Amino acid sequence: MIRRRRLRATDNLRALVRETSVSVSDLIYPVFVIEGKDIKNPINSMPGIYQYSIDRLDEELDRIREAGVKAILLFGIPEHKDEVGSEAYNEHGIIQEAIRYIKKVFPELVVIADICLCEYTSHGHCGVIDHGVILNDETLPLLAKTAVTCAQAGADMVAPSNMMDGHVAAIREALDEAGYEMTPIMAYSAKMASGFYGPFRDAAHSAPGFGDRKTYQMDFHNAREAMRDIFDDIEEGADIIIVKPGFSLLDILKTASVETDMPLCSYNVSGEYSMVKAAAANGWIDEKKIVMELMTAFKRAGAQMIITYHALDVARWIREED
Ligand code: PBG
Repeated sequence: MIRRRRLRATDNLRALVRETSVSVSDLIYPVFVIEGKDIKNPINSMPGIYQYSIDRLDEELDRIREAGVKAILLFGIPEHKDEVGSEAYNEHGIIQEAIRYIKKVFPELVVIADICLCEYTSHGHCGVIDHGVILNDETLPLLAKTAVTCAQAGADMVAPSNMMDGHVAAIREALDEAGYEMTPIMAYSAKMASGFYGPFRDAAHSAPGFGDRKTYQMDFHNAREAMRDIFDDIEEGADIIIVKPGFSLLDILKTASVETDMPLCSYNVSGEYSMVKAAAANGWIDEKKIVMELMTAFKRAGAQMIITYHALDVARWIREED
């Protein structure tokens, strides 16, 4: 008789043989900063998540400090959008000013700047367009400029999420030229065109005005292609690899952890968060249990870090367990 239950007998025995754990230092919390004054806008589809203007940001930073979360992923929402997303690479744009402010008042917080044009373009696509076509090579210099202005503002890391070909190389080259060779790139390498980003587009005002993102984000039917995208980004100079969305790409995350030696990050995206919050609000699930199980699944599949809107709650729950 093989008695697996021997090691399942008590809490302390189970803790002893546990293979995976989630720590507060694994967590990255997304923050939305909006241009304007005295703004704290709730996102209806994401209970507990708000857009803050810089003058109200202290409230959010205090919550982050109190939770002990050490890293944030920053998204900017500009007042003015145009065809070419100029506010993304304005030295004094919303994200650049937010980075400056946060690094001034909370210098030890790791600030990661999301690098994309979709929040900044009038058409909501992640690149510049010509007659309905999203242009690749013409978009690259704009992304590079966005990354450099964020690094100049004090960003600790940049996270290109736009899925243009060659974006990691273009950003690496521009950062190096500008003297930011020590600024790491966290690349959204396997990012699928997904229905799970719906609520984010309310939060970031970034829904595409026409069509969808399928000509640049990956087709979610393909696992081997995802590995090609990951290897391309490694070759182009990525320091950390993001796999996204979290739940539906656990297989890709696992493969990446077996086939590469890169630090891996799972992005537990907006739609995943909203589903959990909706079910919990209805009393259908136990929020803490479900969220901790999911966080553990990301770690078990191979992630060293997790971008999650649940980060502040998870940090509190981990502390309560100790
Ligand atoms: C910007 C970007 C998106 C997300 C992260 N960066 C939206 C998109 O690709 O449409 C989605 C994050 C989430 O759903 O939580 N391109």
